[in-house]
Amino acid sequence: MSRKILVTSALPYANGPIHLGHLVEYIQTDIWVRYQKLQGHECWYVCADDAHGTPIMLKAREQGITPEALIEQVGADHRRDFAGFHIGFDNYYSTHSAENRHFSELIYTRLRDGGWIDRQTITQAYDEREGMFLPDRYIKGTCPRCGADDQYGDNCEACGASYSPDELQNPVSVISGETPVQRASEHYFFRLQDFEPMLREWATGEGLQEEVANKLQEWFDAGLRAWDISRDAPYFGFQIPDTTDKYFYVWLDAPIGYMASFQDLCNRQGLDFDAWWRADSDAELYHFIGKDIVYFHALFWPAMLHGAGFRTPTRVCAHGFLTVDGQKMSKSRGTFIMAETYLRHLDPEYLRYYFAAKLGTGVHDIDLSLEDFTQRVNADLVGKLVNIASRCAGFIQKRFDGQLGPRLDTPELFRRISARAETIGGLYEEREYARVVREVMALADEANQYIDEKKPWVLAKDPDQAEALHAISTTGINLFRVLMLYLKPVLPRTAEAAEAFLQVPPMAWADAGQPLLDHRIERFKPLMTRIDPAAVEAMIEDSRESLKPA
Ligand code: 2FM
Ligand code: ZN
Repeated sequence: MSRKILVTSALPYANGPIHLGHLVEYIQTDIWVRYQKLQGHECWYVCADDAHGTPIMLKAREQGITPEALIEQVGADHRRDFAGFHIGFDNYYSTHSAENRHFSELIYTRLRDGGWIDRQTITQAYDEREGMFLPDRYIKGTCPRCGADDQYGDNCEACGASYSPDELQNPVSVISGETPVQRASEHYFFRLQDFEPMLREWATGEGLQEEVANKLQEWFDAGLRAWDISRDAPYFGFQIPDTTDKYFYVWLDAPIGYMASFQDLCNRQGLDFDAWWRADSDAELYHFIGKDIVYFHALFWPAMLHGAGFRTPTRVCAHGFLTVDGQKMSKSRGTFIMAETYLRHLDPEYLRYYFAAKLGTGVHDIDLSLEDFTQRVNADLVGKLVNIASRCAGFIQKRFDGQLGPRLDTPELFRRISARAETIGGLYEEREYARVVREVMALADEANQYIDEKKPWVLAKDPDQAEALHAISTTGINLFRVLMLYLKPVLPRTAEAAEAFLQVPPMAWADAGQPLLDHRIERFKPLMTRIDPAAVEAMIEDSRESLKPA
């Protein structure tokens, strides 16, 4: 049965470059999407730049350009970097778009008309020189608990205390250096608390990760509160209907950006938007996100959708953060590696493979250990997988004129390996990629053992053994083909090169069971080369370099 599946990754902010930490998520999502497509499902993968908010407004100002110009430039860099890692979005859009304005206004007015928007006057720090309210991270001062200087408006890095910005001593605006004043302003609030029964029900849905379910339970126990969805001018975002100086908080229109990007795709592909988003849609909707933004995706977002008469997500798939060599990515250590820097030194498929080898259903952090990365890619991909093909291809080429034989030497082995398609498919479906990789490598070991035992290089010396040599080499190539198919979601370009070598059309999951016989293949070219540790060193050096102040 063919499924209809819409998949998203979180929208990166349009004010900074894509780095390896971001890529954990895009690679995780892309592998899942590629697997669904190989299964023949109708699967669409959409994303966009998250273009609104104070940091983007201020960054543009700092650079002396308009926010529109900034998000345009950053958006182009993001697209380039994602393409470099073979992230196969069906659409990549921007939250600063007509479609997103439309859906933000639509959802807001439906929520308002449903009675779920309150207005309330609050006081907040205000920078009189700049003429703007200050978000907590734009105020610094002395910690009211321990007296440490230069602490942010909402928490102290020295003693770990959290407090409200009006408790901070000697507060200054990070933007102007002036002392902020307290000023009142009317804000718009979304009554999240009214959705608790609906959210509790949604949270019982199948496949919610344990950690996410526990978090939700904690939040329910603590009690849900109304969410402030407005910001005062000046702000880069969408104006709230019927106001002159109020804007939607960036986190209101960001997830709506998923819909807007999909709408743009529908316009171009002639798809029926409503079939995917109406309340009783039978399509599936998956959001891949980092563990830090579960609150937005598992509380606000389903509540907003439900209140506005749209379907809710099928699943929210959260993942952990990336560490490098066991530590937080660090600019001074050269481990804050940007996508662009990586691509100057290394093949993107190495990283796709390594992340896959580390990823599972859980939300724990994953570590990129640079030495392990090099060893693992070299041992698994070059030493095991590609090796199967390179050990057999020469005989087919030289002795049999590039033609695979009419029969397999050991059909049971082929059948056993191709019968793993269902299990491996199930692991992809559950995002258990580390188990996929373990499974495929165990099968690659079996294939290599088979070749070791059959010793085709010995048979090759005996003209009477030509038929056996042909059948054995044909078996080896067929085992390689199935294993390559199993890793195709992870290694799309290597799989493409393998398809060219095998002279077959793009492989689909259903091809696992059928051996390739009496078929001409191409001369073998190395499908992947070993990682040179010097290239890794150079990338680290480059990461240190590229972040030195000019
Ligand atoms: O945390 C972030 O980087 C946000 N830009 C993610 C937004 S995801 C979605 F809600 F748009
Ligand atoms: Zn403190």
